[in-house]
Amino acid sequence: MSDISNDDAPVKGLRMKDSEQSHDIQRYRHVVVTAFFVLLVTFIAVFVRDDLLLSPLQKGRRSTDTPKYLDTTGKAFPWQSIRLPMSVRPLEYHVLIYPQIHRGEFDGIVEIRAVIEEQTSFIVLHGSGLEIVDTKVMVWDGSGLTSTVRQVKAISVSRKLQMYALEMEETLRRSNNVNITLKFEGKLEKKLSGLYLSNYTTPEGDVKYLATTQFEATGAREAFPCFDEPDMKAKFNLSIVRSRNYIALFNMPLQTSKEFKKDLFVDTFQQTVDMSTYLVAFVVCDYDSVTGITSQGTQVSVYAPSHQISQATFALETAIKVLNFYNRLFGINYPLPKQDLVAIPDFAAGAMENWGLITFRLTALLYDPERSTDTDKEYVIHAIAHELAHQWFGNLVTLKWWNDLWLNEGFATFVEYFGANEVDPTLLSMDRLVQNEMFRAMATDCIDNSHPITAEVSDPNEIGTLFDAISYSKGASLIRMLSNFIAEEKFWSGIKTYLNKYMYSNARTQDLWNMFKDFTQVDVPTLMSTWTKQMGYPVVTMTRQGDSVHVSQERFLLGRDGPKSSSSYKWYIPFRYAVGKTNGIADKLLIIHPDSEVNFPVDQNEVKWVKGNYGMYGYYRVNYEERNWRALIKQLIEEHTVFSAADRAGLLDDVFYLARDDKVSQTTALDMTKYLLNEEDYLPWSVAFSCLEFIRDRIRNKDVYGKIQKYTEKLTSPILTKLGWDDTGSHPEKSLRAAAISFGLVFGHPATIKKGKKNFDIWMQTGKIVNINLKAEIYQSGAQYGGEVESNFLLKKYMEAHVPSEKSALLMALCYTSQTQVIKRLLESAAEDKVIRHQDLSTVIGQLSSNPKGQQLVWQFVKKHWDNIVKWFSSSMFLLPQIIRSSTSFFSTKEQYIEVQNFFASVDTVGCERDIKASLERIQMNINWLKVNEHIVNGWFGSSDNILPNRV
Ligand code: BES
Ligand code: ZN
Repeated sequence: MSDISNDDAPVKGLRMKDSEQSHDIQRYRHVVVTAFFVLLVTFIAVFVRDDLLLSPLQKGRRSTDTPKYLDTTGKAFPWQSIRLPMSVRPLEYHVLIYPQIHRGEFDGIVEIRAVIEEQTSFIVLHGSGLEIVDTKVMVWDGSGLTSTVRQVKAISVSRKLQMYALEMEETLRRSNNVNITLKFEGKLEKKLSGLYLSNYTTPEGDVKYLATTQFEATGAREAFPCFDEPDMKAKFNLSIVRSRNYIALFNMPLQTSKEFKKDLFVDTFQQTVDMSTYLVAFVVCDYDSVTGITSQGTQVSVYAPSHQISQATFALETAIKVLNFYNRLFGINYPLPKQDLVAIPDFAAGAMENWGLITFRLTALLYDPERSTDTDKEYVIHAIAHELAHQWFGNLVTLKWWNDLWLNEGFATFVEYFGANEVDPTLLSMDRLVQNEMFRAMATDCIDNSHPITAEVSDPNEIGTLFDAISYSKGASLIRMLSNFIAEEKFWSGIKTYLNKYMYSNARTQDLWNMFKDFTQVDVPTLMSTWTKQMGYPVVTMTRQGDSVHVSQERFLLGRDGPKSSSSYKWYIPFRYAVGKTNGIADKLLIIHPDSEVNFPVDQNEVKWVKGNYGMYGYYRVNYEERNWRALIKQLIEEHTVFSAADRAGLLDDVFYLARDDKVSQTTALDMTKYLLNEEDYLPWSVAFSCLEFIRDRIRNKDVYGKIQKYTEKLTSPILTKLGWDDTGSHPEKSLRAAAISFGLVFGHPATIKKGKKNFDIWMQTGKIVNINLKAEIYQSGAQYGGEVESNFLLKKYMEAHVPSEKSALLMALCYTSQTQVIKRLLESAAEDKVIRHQDLSTVIGQLSSNPKGQQLVWQFVKKHWDNIVKWFSSSMFLLPQIIRSSTSFFSTKEQYIEVQNFFASVDTVGCERDIKASLERIQMNINWLKVNEHIVNGWFGSSDNILPNRV
């Protein structure tokens, strides 16, 4: 390609190198750089927007004279928007890449066949962290038979936009077909996005390396130059160079494998269907695999290091079951010939839905029936069910732009529970959704610095921060609310129509809502837009006045300081309520409109109580007048099972959150807990545990704490006695046993500590765990209530462990340690990325910040390493908000508020400004909570009325 060296390239460092083609790349180039252009004479009609006729620079500078984005020489970059221009559309990529695992670099050639949609003299495309060493642009004539090379006058680079602009000598005309060839080099490093290096250690102590990719959201541009936007779908052809002892995997099956030099092979894969760049993936590793087949003939394989391959069987069985189920559920068969699932030792997220080549962190894929717990198994099922749901929703039909990310993630999160239920109905998946998604989302969506689910993004960094509880959990909860409201069959009919209409293409949130028109009378777009365009959620208040119940709504917003920007929000609320009568329960569904209030009649003589959000399908809270709360509590105490477990959990979550905002008195909330003496279900208990832990975390150092310990010990004693420590009962019972024991340890209940420590000692001495499903709690007992010996033992076991879920349990337990030295060591190791990997840093920080001995150390660590943290996770931005949130979550004084504020004012906040504001808001809430509630809590726990009877 020496003929295309451009000596006029203005950017230092980008001057194309003389063609000293020292790398092997020259030798294998011919294998793929072949004639792949086809005759393209179809007239491509596009709607010409006025602004497309402007030059790129003019367009970006319409509103300002100072350019926002500069190139690397300090001049204005010729394009001034984070979205690519629409003038060039890619059709097909041919990528040839050589990850040189042992040299820590990669090089490659990408040839992009594209069509010029609008006349332009620039080709703007993405690239980040790459060096472009050669470029060539060819234009094909109308017949498609002859091509001419066009000179690239200059290449400029914008680091901020992560783009290259190739300036052409001559204008490219509309409908021209061009062939853009870029030769590039990059570093193959241990990071978590783009094309990166990972490693693992075999039981024999050998360190093995692999090269892998993580492209969502903006990582593809770190591996090869491309048009890295989700609606620029194209077909991908890949050839990878690998050495003999490795295998290579891609989205599609292998087509040919040729040895072109001793021990060096080039593997060429089948061409993909039309797909987005963020879903492209490849892996070069030395793994083993297990394989099976779905009823439709899709070949499913799970890949893992050979010493862990026996832990892959469960994932294989699960994936096949779920694929068979989704083929039926979506009414469209999975379109690719194969689906691989690969375990990656360094992985930022939990798993990634690359089309046909799903990648997972080890704990999300590997399961060892001997050593993993039921919770570990549940995680594997959910991860597989989630990523497979994306193969339709996300991969086949893709969001047009990242502002609709919620639809992708919210939908997959919703569907993953159906998939999980199919694999194992005993998991009670649908109940879990209420807690894991709905309550989780409502807990973060109640502050002023929340954000609407459809978000604007103005910086590539911000895309990453959208992968949060709002997109995932609020998204899933809203979809569930809609599906329940319009009826499930109609919902699935709408989904199928949507998938069929937009397959291999892109859609917006609005396009989905419009699909329901043919199936329901409900004005879905209007109803749903009140939930997607406004942040937060309502609290519905039901007030009984004689024979009528009055229903009104307002935004539920915690915290009282300052004016609230969003307190006037109103929603269309699908509202199901129940009336408890002397002779049974009656329920009804209605819709509350934003601008009108509702009254409905009740018979005064018959009604005992009313309950809103009956069935817990609605994303909102419900409040009542004190008299009704009392009636509900009475009902719970007398016969709690008239309500479903979800409704009981909802009553608890609502009363405690409303009490935090002083909308209900704290004593009413605490009074409700008394019914728990008879509660035997997981869901309400787990809500109660987190509400009581919230109180504990705020008054741990106060005198009243001893009384709270006593109360909670008595409260949990019946259920603990019933469940014992043996591994008996259903999955929810096992979860409840573990949760109740962990709660006892957190609260310092002497009997639980004693038992836990005894079991820890047995494990230390004999290596036996009395109940594998209580492993986390037994480890926790040793870490929290043991000394140096116990913590060091855990540390040693952590370093030796080869079952990923075991390793992770040991690490989580270590975060409970009572030893300051161990905490420091954990943090420093996680910074080093050796014994503890960077992928686990945010979890370690999160876990340590609920350890009273860890909180200050975590905050000091975050301050000291902030610049590094930003560097480590700059392409896995979703981890930064988590780190900001957990490292500041326990602060509750004015001084701490000021310290956090000052610190973040003095550093680079890389697109996390809203998360910082949210953290400050939460600290302020903690300050306020103490002011209002400390004496109430004191009084309640101190009162002789609230001493529970000795039940056991
Ligand atoms: N698409 C995401 C993975 C992802 C997350 C990519 C953040 C880029 C940034 C994937 O579908 C996902 O949601 N994974 C979950 C798995 C979980 C639901 C089991 C995750 O990573 O937590
Ligand atoms: Zn997802």
